[in-house]
Amino acid sequence: MILTETPVVTAALEAAVRAPSPHNSQPWLFELGPDVIDLVLDEDRVLEVCDPDRREARLSCGAALLNLQLAIAVAGRSCDVEFLPRKDRPELLARVVVGARHRATATEQRLAASIRARYSNRRPFASTAVPAGFRYAVRQAAREEGAKLILLDEVGLLEAVTGLIRRADHVQTLDEGFQAELRAWTKENGSREGVPAYAGGPRPSGGLLPVRHHGQSEQAREFERDPVVAVLTTPTDGPLAQIRAGRAMQRALLTATSLGLSASFYSQPMEIPSARAVLRSLLGENENPQVVFRLGYGFPGSTTPRRPVDAVIRTRSGESHR
Ligand SMILES: Cc1cc2nc3c(=O)[nH]c(=O)nc-3n(C[C@H](O)[C@H](O)[C@H](O)COP(=O)(O)O)c2cc1C
Repeated sequence: MILTETPVVTAALEAAVRAPSPHNSQPWLFELGPDVIDLVLDEDRVLEVCDPDRREARLSCGAALLNLQLAIAVAGRSCDVEFLPRKDRPELLARVVVGARHRATATEQRLAASIRARYSNRRPFASTAVPAGFRYAVRQAAREEGAKLILLDEVGLLEAVTGLIRRADHVQTLDEGFQAELRAWTKENGSREGVPAYAGGPRPSGGLLPVRHHGQSEQAREFERDPVVAVLTTPTDGPLAQIRAGRAMQRALLTATSLGLSASFYSQPMEIPSARAVLRSLLGENENPQVVFRLGYGFPGSTTPRRPVDAVIRTRSGESHR
């Protein structure tokens, strides 16, 4: 049986492409063989200005990988994952071998059910506090994937990090190359890639955090005064750490979604090397910051489109699937 024809692989790929990615660039390809799905970083979709090292692309692919595995589990199959299986092909990030029958755990079912419900919510959050138990669950989700999710509870640290985000946002606002790339990925409604204007948030009229501007025209609005800001860190950096960080990010985001929480990203300081170095020194030299997001109770928004599965499949020889 050729795996590409099975409902298991179709469900797995449909789940994988729901992963978040910077500017909704969707930097992934899947090479299919009998019982094997290879996850490949799509070099043509790397954001050369804000992600020249491909770090965010690897995070995105790591998130897609977790979605893929969860979907395979709830479809009733086990799978094994080998990271970076070929030294001569660094863009081949992971090989997933689909195995025997498997009964999905309650956690796998809960997280898989959250894949389609999750989206970036860039609008103001309610002032309702996030319960301690929920904060613990989201941190624990990152820990299960070998990462640490630091919630900035200490006022001094929160102010230092949000100040860094604002300064980095200002630098990116003045950077013509960055703005051109952002404009290129800000799309009309109906496009299956990039960020549509409806997914952007209003400009904040006050509060601690800036919002990346995706062409939204709405009037400025007040954001929550006491945001829950999370920084996901890994003990090492490099391709493997970044793929695993993407899985941890996604497990944390899906856990948050399953608890009724919303999230949105603040990558400005992650995309400027000197700002990322400052963030590392604020958190501790062994903490390699990978992603920053806020958590809270969002007013309902909507998901954004993805390219169809057919557009992200390649046969192993590198030809297009269809
Ligand atoms: C590594 C990474 C960095 C991101 N950085 C930002 C950011 O700084 N600002 C922002 O508004 N969205 C950011 N996003 C969110 C993407 O724009 C979003 O995932 C994409 O548009 C798809 O939309 P969705 O998350 O609603 O599915 C980031 C996503 C990833 C994976």
